[in-house]
Formats: sequence, C-alpha cells, structure tokens
Amino acid sequence: MSNKIFSLSDARKYARRRMPRMTFDYIDGSAGDERACALNVEAIEAIRMLPRVLVNVENRSLQTSLFGETWQLPFGIAPMGMCNLTWPGADAMLARAARQYGMPIVLSTMASSSIEVTAERAGDHAWFQLYVGESEEVGFHLVERAEAAGYRNLILTVDVPEIGSRPREKRNGFQSPVHIGPKQFFDFAFHPQWSLRTLATGVPTLANVNVAGGKKFKRNEARGKVDWAFLERLRARWQGKLIVKGILDADDAEDCVTIGADAIIVSNHGGRQLDGARSSISALPEIVDAVGSDIEVHFDGGIRSGWRGTPGRSRSHARRGTCYRSIPSPCQRDDRHA
Ligand SMILES: Cc1cc2nc3c(=O)[nH]c(=O)nc-3n(C[C@H](O)[C@H](O)[C@H](O)COP(=O)(O)O)c2cc1C
Repeated sequence: MSNKIFSLSDARKYARRRMPRMTFDYIDGSAGDERACALNVEAIEAIRMLPRVLVNVENRSLQTSLFGETWQLPFGIAPMGMCNLTWPGADAMLARAARQYGMPIVLSTMASSSIEVTAERAGDHAWFQLYVGESEEVGFHLVERAEAAGYRNLILTVDVPEIGSRPREKRNGFQSPVHIGPKQFFDFAFHPQWSLRTLATGVPTLANVNVAGGKKFKRNEARGKVDWAFLERLRARWQGKLIVKGILDADDAEDCVTIGADAIIVSNHGGRQLDGARSSISALPEIVDAVGSDIEVHFDGGIRSGWRGTPGRSRSHARRGTCYRSIPSPCQRDDRHA
C-alpha cells in the first residue's frame, strides 16, 4: 500500500475505494454544504510562505515543547470518534504512530478503544478528550477513569452542544451502533476486505461510554449543558493539564485563561459542526494576540500537508501553536464532492 500513496489525496482516493461509502463519508463529510470545511483548507492555502535562503539548515529539528515537555513533532493526532470503522485496528495503528513519531494521540470519548487500553498502547503519548452529555456524573466518571489510567492531559471539547447536521451521514443512514439495512448491506458487500476483516475482529463499539454507574452516554445525546460553570468544576476536579477545544473567539479564549485552563485549541471542529462558522485559521492571530503568553494555543482545521502552509501568520504564531490533524483527512478541495 505504501508504494501507492505519495500524498494525502492519494490516500483519500485509496480510502474511497477500500472503505464502504458509509464509513468513508462519516470521515470525509462535514456539516451542511461543507463550506466551513472547505473554507478551512482554502484559508490555509491562501497563506503563502516566503522562503529565505542562505541560512545554514544542515541540522533541522521539528521538536517542540508542550507544557514544558519536549515532543518530536509540533503536531498530534486529533480526537476522532470510531476510528476502527475506518479499518479494523486503526486505533492501535494510531497509538503506534504516536509513539514512533513522538507526538500526542488524543483519545476521543467516542473512540472504539477504551481509555485503559489506549493508555497501555500509547503510554505518556495518550491524552483524553472529554464530551459531557446529559449526565455530568457520567462525564466525571470518565475523568476518574482517565486519571486512574495515568492520563495527564485532558481536553474538553466545547463546540458540540448537539452533533452537527451532516447530510452525508443522514443519506447513508450512519448511526452508532451501526444499523444494517438493505442499503448498508450492499455497501458492505461491495467492500469485502473491509467487511470480512470487520466481521473477523468484531464490529467496533463505543468503548468508553457503555458502563458508567448504570448510565450510558449515547452518540446522539445533547451536550448542551456544558457551560462556563461546568468548566470551573472540571478545573477544580482535574489536577493535570486542562485544554479547551473548539475556541474561535478571543473573549472566549480570555475566559478560558481566567478559569485556569492550561491551553486552548482554536478549532471549528473541521467544519463538522457549524457550516457557517469562520475558518479556524482566521481566528488564530486575534486569539494569540488576546491571550499573549498566558496560555498555550493549539490549532486544528484545514491542514492537509506540511508543504502548503503553516498554522500561523507569523513566526511567533507558528512557534506557539501546536496543530492537530485528522487522518485520513476530510474534504480535499479537488474532489470533495465526489
Ligand atoms: C472522523 C472524525 C471524527 C471526529 N471526532 C471527534 C471527537 O470525537 N471529538 C472531538 O473533539 N473532535 C472530533 N473530530 C474533530 C477533530 O478532532 C478535529 O477538530 C478536526 O478534524 C480538525 O480539522 P481537519 O479534519 O481539517 O484537520 C473528529 C473529526 C473527524 C474527521
């Protein structure tokens, strides 16, 4: 496979052939008409680099420091729900990649691997991403599990009061647990490798949300209760580093500083939430200017390769930012409506 993939668009084409439409579209699709997702990419592409020459660059390093710790790369693997639907064992592969390349992997609340298993696989590279639904108790139960498993960095995602309206998911009848009607049956039948391997390893489930004091966290559950008061309670409860994901506004960023968050992630959720949202990159400079060096600023949305742009307009933005990206990546500009 690796000798067929030389760029991200190669990877996307390959994934499109090998995966059922339903699972491919879950990853590749975003909210509404997919403008916010496209805008993320376009806004990054519009930033052009000015190469400077005749500087001795014989010894290069991408190392960066996050919360005082050194990492080999200035980016990490973003939280993604249900990765094992992409391909059986995807979560384990991502954990291995995080170790191999020296970057963080963020385990989603909606992941197909458990908090504990991922801690074993990825060790100190594993961070945990928290969603809180209708029951705060279930949320704090997950936090306790993460703490007990040795996680030191907790990301609270705040831009999903409800799951965004994603036409491709609706069109394909995507839901969790996966429902297999005639449409899905044919989709799976036309992708026998994926289907046989998935059957052999077991259909992926939401590994973290099933048992919590007899309560469940369902994927479609509203998450709109999460507010500033909750963030304060979480800050009081969680001893490790606390990162707030989904910030697009400078005032919100400053409020995160006031509450004592250790970092924010400037993000519009890859355009998967609000199709009318601004691009992540357009928000980055003003947020960095507003919070100064009071807090670490991380970034995601629209990065598709290392040669198209950096996540910041100036060197200081790039230096302070760490970026996350999803693999494989949604919405390539050329063929995103394919
Ligand atoms: C398939 C998929 C699942 C995702 N699941 C989550 C999730 O469970 N929690 C979360 O905070 N963000 C989730 N995200 C959003 C990513 O963490 C990230 O913010 C976004 O993908 C960045 O934009 P990019 O895809 O353009 O790099 C998901 C993204 C994708 C593509």
